Amino acid sequence: MICWCPNAHAENYDARIGNSEILTPKAAVAPRINGAVIYGARPGKQFVYRIPTQGERPIQFEVGDLPAGLTLDAAKGIITGVTPVKKGEYAMTVTAKNSHGEARRPFKLVVGDKLALTPPCGWNSWGGYMMMVSDQVLRKTADLLVNKGLADVGFQYVSLDDCWMRISPEKYAARDAASKKKHEGFDYSGMIGEERDARGNILPNRKFPDMKAMTDYIHSYGLKTGIYNSPGVCTCQSFAGSFGHEAQDAEQYARWGFDLLKYDQCSGGKLLSELKKSKPGFKTSDFWKPMADALQAQDRDILFNLCQYGQDNPWTWAPDLGIQSWRTGGDLNHGVGTYFKQALRLATELRDYSKPGQWNDPDFMYIHKIRDHKHMVAPTVEIPLNTNQRYQYVTLWSMICAPFIFSCDMDAIDEFTIRLLANADVVGINQDELGQVAKVVRQTDGEVVMVKSLADGSRAVALFNLNADNDVDIKLDADWLGAEAPGVVFDAWRQRAVTHLKSGDTVRLSPNGIALFIVKK
Ligand code: GLA
Repeated sequence: MICWCPNAHAENYDARIGNSEILTPKAAVAPRINGAVIYGARPGKQFVYRIPTQGERPIQFEVGDLPAGLTLDAAKGIITGVTPVKKGEYAMTVTAKNSHGEARRPFKLVVGDKLALTPPCGWNSWGGYMMMVSDQVLRKTADLLVNKGLADVGFQYVSLDDCWMRISPEKYAARDAASKKKHEGFDYSGMIGEERDARGNILPNRKFPDMKAMTDYIHSYGLKTGIYNSPGVCTCQSFAGSFGHEAQDAEQYARWGFDLLKYDQCSGGKLLSELKKSKPGFKTSDFWKPMADALQAQDRDILFNLCQYGQDNPWTWAPDLGIQSWRTGGDLNHGVGTYFKQALRLATELRDYSKPGQWNDPDFMYIHKIRDHKHMVAPTVEIPLNTNQRYQYVTLWSMICAPFIFSCDMDAIDEFTIRLLANADVVGINQDELGQVAKVVRQTDGEVVMVKSLADGSRAVALFNLNADNDVDIKLDADWLGAEAPGVVFDAWRQRAVTHLKSGDTVRLSPNGIALFIVKK
């Protein structure tokens, strides 16, 4: 393990990361309020929000100027109720106190047409569980987000992906050889049968005995929860799709209490091309509109995460449908080694399309142990990325304002992965109110430097070594650090001020290494 020592002269700042090295310090005992300072909601909708706060419990919370209709649980720091019917900005002050101190921060609820003013932040079931997901997995994940401190830095969504529905006997029989192979060994008992009840309401499979009880459980922590389906007749794993039932399914998701829908093209691709052929003028956006409209008609805000693998440039039309995020490419877990390429595209070619309320989604942070999509019942395995690459992955997702959703086996999650994710400053860069995607200010075969402007006038500067074999020294440029430099430079991963760092100094990175600084205004 490499020892990191603050360098008094700072001619060369050593930011190298050793194998399995944990950089994020343990949270302090005094309160620190984290997460976004801004929150978008539609008028008159159900509301649940946990104030992400680190520090030793018990913590006593106070919210000044809480709008009527909302209530604070002062011991838990959870706000619930209904958002104001009048559009506008509702400025509040949040205070968190314990025996070690007090933290205070502004928090603004913006009631209007936009949701997700900062990227959605949470966990999704796909990587770690695939077909093996269940009600218990989601409940356990909510427990872990809270007990391991991830909810305290801003992780909010516990989201279900594919395989919660039933599968009709016809679809089960029609599965092709590839599907049968990847599902080999899966226990389908109690899953094959009518996909909907007599009224057409979609039915969960036996692994989800009571959806409402499950979402109530997750909401009791002040967390939120997501669900998944497809506009086609079936999902990518052949379970019941939403085609022809969009409004009814949106109502069901709202009744069950879900806060996010990942809507995945899957079998809908074939339908879409048929519709385009048979209906002159039919556009891709027309295909997604029924669900977008249906979600907006519900009494709760349900984020829409569109998954069309980047086909038909969704970034050009999805925002007009009121969609909050859209996938920009294929499944990253099928080749997690391409994480850098995906992120670079979001910071260059697609940069202008991400902004508050609308986000490019390069897929999840598949981190630690995930399942093999070619054999889903097999035990989870480590992703083929080394320690430094894992730091790069999370740093990139923070810098490019990607939905900050991780996906891994929560039964196996280790201390390294928890601390990799539970860095309040790194999450804070992703959740910054300005919502500005980092700019690439230097790119060579071996190095990339990105700069992200932050709302308070500070900037996040990320240095990346693309070289897998050698250390590299990157010389800091005055333009990256900005007019404020030399100010206080903060090493975001190690959560330490590096007061002497200035332009002309060099930063040493390990192979595939990174350094992430916040240059404070
Ligand atoms: C597609 C999506 C994945 C996942 C699976 C589920 O492949 O792109 O993210 O949702 O379907 O079957």
